[in-house]
Order: sequence, then C-alpha cells, then structure tokens
Amino acid sequence: MGKSVLSRIVVVSNRVAEPKAGKSAGGLTVGVMGALKQQGGIWFGWGGTTCTGEAKDAELKRRGKITFATIELNETDFDAYYNGFSNGSLWPLAHYLLGFFSYDRSQYEAWRRVNTTFARKLLPLLEPDDLIWVHDYHLFPLAEELRRAGVTNPIGFFLHVPFPGIAVLQALPPWRQILQSLCMYDVIGFQTEQDREDFLECLRFAGLGGDRRGNDSGRIEAIQRRLTVDVFPIGIDVDECAQQAQESARLASVQRLERALMGRPLIMGVDRLDYSKGLPDRFRAFDQLLSDYPSSRGQLVYMQIAPPTRAGVRAYQDIREELEQLTGNINGRFAEPEWVPIRYLNRGFARPTLMGFLRLARIGFVTPLRDGMNLVAKEYVAAQDPADPGVLVLSQLAGAARELTSAVMVNPYDGRGVAEGLQTAASMAREERVERHTDMLAVLRKNDINVWRQRFVEALENSRQATGAGARESAYGDR
Ligand code: ADP
Ligand code: F6P
Repeated sequence: MGKSVLSRIVVVSNRVAEPKAGKSAGGLTVGVMGALKQQGGIWFGWGGTTCTGEAKDAELKRRGKITFATIELNETDFDAYYNGFSNGSLWPLAHYLLGFFSYDRSQYEAWRRVNTTFARKLLPLLEPDDLIWVHDYHLFPLAEELRRAGVTNPIGFFLHVPFPGIAVLQALPPWRQILQSLCMYDVIGFQTEQDREDFLECLRFAGLGGDRRGNDSGRIEAIQRRLTVDVFPIGIDVDECAQQAQESARLASVQRLERALMGRPLIMGVDRLDYSKGLPDRFRAFDQLLSDYPSSRGQLVYMQIAPPTRAGVRAYQDIREELEQLTGNINGRFAEPEWVPIRYLNRGFARPTLMGFLRLARIGFVTPLRDGMNLVAKEYVAAQDPADPGVLVLSQLAGAARELTSAVMVNPYDGRGVAEGLQTAASMAREERVERHTDMLAVLRKNDINVWRQRFVEALENSRQATGAGARESAYGDR
C-alpha cells in the first residue's frame, strides 16, 4: 500500500490571530486555531495593521506546525472593506438586523479590491496539492479572484455566521454577484441546515441552479459547476476546555472571584460587545428577574464579560454607551451595601481563566438575537463539573440551539420569558441539571473541533477527485 500523504491546508481569513497570551475573542480564531494545531498548515490573512499605498508581500512566521502568513492592507480600503461593507452591510444582513444595515457602493468596490489583494498576495504561497479553506463573509469573492488568477486547487468556504433568507438578502444591491462568487468554491459549509436551505433557496430564486445531483444530498450544480454544499456545525476542543476548567481552581483570579461571590450563585455571559449578542435585552431581562422574583435580590450575581470589538463602526460605539447606562441604572436601583447585581467587564481574559469563571457559574447566559453558532454556549457546557453542573440558558436563535437541545431555551426578545428561564435554571434540582448536562456533553463530544476539521477537509479532498483539473475550465466558462 502506498504511503498516504496529507495535503497541506491553507486557511484564509480576514484576521489572522497569532495567539498572544492565550487571549482571543471571536469564534473563528478559536475554531481555526483548534483545527490547525492538529494538522498544521498555513494561516493567511490580515495581520492587524494598515499601510498607505500598496501592501507588501506576506510576512511569514512559523510557530510549531503552523505558518502564520500576514499582510497589511491599504488604510483607506481597509475602512471601507472592514468597517463598511463587511461589518456595516454583510454582518447585520446575515444576522437579520436590518435596522443596523447600510450600503454604499464605494465600500462594496473597496471590499472587492481587498479580495483581489488577498488573492494576489496568497498566490505565491500556493503549491499544486494545497487545499484552500477560506473563512467568513469578508472573503465571499476570494475563490472567484483565485480562479481568475488560474488557481485550480480545491477551494472551500466556511461561513461562521448565518446565511440570510432570500427576502433579507435582496436588500443588498449586489446580492446576485455575491451568490455567483460563492459558486466558484468547490465546497461551501454552513453552521446549520437552515443556513444551507436558505442558501440553496437563494440560488434557485436567482436562477443560478442549486438543484441536487444524484443521491448525495450535498452535491449540487450551479452556474455549470458542481459543488458540495453541506452543514458542518463548528465544535470545540471539549477535553481542553474541561481540563482548563478543572485545573482553574488554582488560579488566583478564579479564587478571588469565588471568594467575592461569598456563596451567591453566579450568572455569566461572555460575548464580544456586538449588537447581535442581544446584550441590552439580556440586561433588561435580568432587571425583569430582579423585579419579578424578589428572592433573587441580594442573591444572584450577573457577571457579563464583553470585550469591545469593531470600534470603528458607529453601532458598536452606541451599544457600549447603552450598556453602560443600563448597568448604572440596574445597579443603582437594586444594589445593597453588600451586593451589586451586575458586574460588567470590558476586557479579554486568558482562556484558562475564562474556563475557570465559566465553571464557577451556576447559569451560562447566552441570548444572542441571532448567531451562526455561539461557541461560548458550548464552552460553558464543557467547563462544568459533571457531578454538579450549572444550567445553560440559551437563545433559540443561536445555531448552537440546534445541537444543545437540553438547554433551557428562551426567545431573547421576550424579556419576561428570559427572566422565567433564569428562574427555572436558578431553582433546578441537581438531578435534572446532571441529566441535561450529560445529554449536551455527549453532543459536544460527538461533534468536536476535530470532527469539524476532518469532515470539511475530507469534503475538499473529495471535491478534488470529483472536479479534477476541470476546475479551471469551468471557473472561466461562465464569465
Ligand atoms: P463570535 O464568533 O461571534 O465572537 P462565539 O461565541 O462563537 O462568538 O465565539 C467567541 C469566542 O471568543 C469564544 O471562544 C470565547 O471564549 C472567546 N471570547 C469571547 N470573549 C472573550 C474574552 N473576553 N476573553 C477571551 N476570550 C473570549
Ligand atoms: O464569525 C464571527 C466573526 O466575524 C469572526 O469572523 C470573528 O471570529 C469574530 O466575529 C470577531 O470579529 P472581528 O474579527 O471583526 O473582531
């Protein structure tokens, strides 16, 4: 039998986060690091700085099995590409939050230009056998740019955020071009079945194809190309989270928090400071709990960790102000000399500390208005003591709700309902907590971060066999 050789994986994402002091906020970073540390490969993307004029070639740094390849981006284009089209147009659209949506054609053009830059700078690093794995909405048109440059390697795309239904997608003037660009990938992966169905429906509506080929439900045809469109719910490194959480009792920061709680039950939220995470509604629901259930006053402590993110976008500045006001208002009305209801922290923590905090929490409070997956929900479950676990209160609008069906499910827009969910969780007997936790842990183990990587990479490998060298021909055929 011949020696089997693993193809090199080239991951491409907007931001490349070389781990610094273990602090990282964002599901993509955590997921990609988790996946690459097993198999190794290249991680290519923006390194976090801008330049004037043309970007230089990628700077390479090898750390163990991973080579980090980073580029700078032109500062004017960057603002329009990242703050503008990616996070002012695509992000709110993907999260069905059209009140935050805006569109400016020049930002769209800058977004396309940045994708061309990504392709140009990536090209010299590619080898014929590489599998290229592109991540998230910033880079929808990257395969199209790479194909135009003659790349025939298998190229896959994974979307970390939801894919909007056609009625919402149509608010975006270049919606059809974006669908066409996506068809230049060989594999497209979504977090949930709903996202996949919405994407296929969009293709059919646009008359671009989207019908199944043969018996394999994942294989479709669109603009005369064959592609795999499937569901790959992102997972976590369950053992690593559990171990960090278990060992965290010796960390001074975790011990300090435990002492400060003085035996009071902790409700905990961890989210980037993003309007899609539903934080103002969440704070109001906690307010509702204190109002509706007087026995919770002086008892429950809600700690919300929310590191600032995308500060260049106005809506993110506004939400920060709104939360500061809400915290002051709730604490001002309910606090006692010896008890403050909300602890609100705008900063990042090292992962072991975060896992230790999550283990201390009696309730994991995860109520996004819409979320592709939400890894914090999964991390909370993995961090619990299986013999005496806490309860996850989870938004039914997070992708994680499709898997973590034993959570206490709430609608994040229904303040009274969320308060009831918190009360149910706070008073839940140990037997029921253990039962729910056991169910959810089994789901996490079955579909962990390695399964996610293996399934996606396998789909990409299979697409090499299915499309072969024809990829080049078909990519240009329709242009
Ligand atoms: P998103 O990708 O929208 O940020 P997720 O919940 O899927 O949402 O992923 C967030 C990831 O970032 C999780 O792994 C979480 O532990 C991590 N994270 C969030 N906030 C912090 C923080 N303050 N310090 C360290 N890690 C954080
Ligand atoms: O999937 C959510 C996402 O957009 C990821 O791309 C990234 O992990 C996270 O949010 C953080 O976003 P940003 O890189 O804009 O800070």
